[in-house]
Amino acid sequence: MAYELKMRIWRGDAEGGDLADFTVEVSEGEVVLDALHRVQATQAGDLAIRWNCKAGKCGSCSAEINGRPRLLCMTRLSDFEPTETITVTPMRTFPVVRDLVTDVSFNYRKARELPYADLGPRDDDGKRRMAQVDVERGQEFRKCIECFLCQNVCHVVRDHEDNKQHFAGPRFFLRYAELDMHPLDRNDRRKLAQEQAGLGMCNITKCCTEVCPEGIHITDNAIIPMKERVADRKYDPLVWLGNKIGIRNKDTDSRTEV
Ligand code: SF4
Ligand code: SF4
Ligand code: FES
Repeated sequence: MAYELKMRIWRGDAEGGDLADFTVEVSEGEVVLDALHRVQATQAGDLAIRWNCKAGKCGSCSAEINGRPRLLCMTRLSDFEPTETITVTPMRTFPVVRDLVTDVSFNYRKARELPYADLGPRDDDGKRRMAQVDVERGQEFRKCIECFLCQNVCHVVRDHEDNKQHFAGPRFFLRYAELDMHPLDRNDRRKLAQEQAGLGMCNITKCCTEVCPEGIHITDNAIIPMKERVADRKYDPLVWLGNKIGIRNKDTDSRTEV
């Protein structure tokens, strides 16, 4: 069944902009990205939208729909009343390039701050081995499609531009946790997560988990365990003694300079 959908779409650039009203014909079963493409095809040929896969896998069509961070290609029109106006705005935490496209390079800079996995020497037969349970633990974290919706919703940076310098955000806490739980990685991610990535600024509101399109339990399975690991390190009597007398403990202190 086709019907006329009312949309409000943010149009503008880094200098500023405003919401523009459109009415577009849509069909039951379509997604918000379909409706935007029809607006682009019929009424606003220069409307800027970033997208790639239209299958919830590339992570590029992130925006805010009625104020909620979502993927445009995975948000069904049937989630809304046919008479409801759908408002689409760019992610608020990142600078606007044009219309619905934002500059997400903040995330790439944070990714570069993370040291690579330092896996140490191979076994005599040239292989590396780890327990199946350790392989499986990281699987959930590797589902991340880097849509950055979790980064967008996190209040630590959403309303506080100044915090961006010292805070990596939930997507990267996920990565710190994945590598810290890797049995072969020899970096001390706990120290880095706390001192470099600002893990202590996260107050476990779980907003990041709520918007993750991959259903990753960011807070429960990555952030909280990582905070516990940081606390273990901080209150480890051997680390405390080592710090007091000025020696570095090989097993408990950072092994890679970054
Ligand atoms: S749980 Fe932490 S990282 Fe996630 S949104 Fe809240 S403050 Fe940000
Ligand atoms: S953790 Fe989830 S919300 Fe965050 S970037 Fe990855 S897929 Fe997106
Ligand atoms: S277009 Fe790839 S996730 Fe939406």
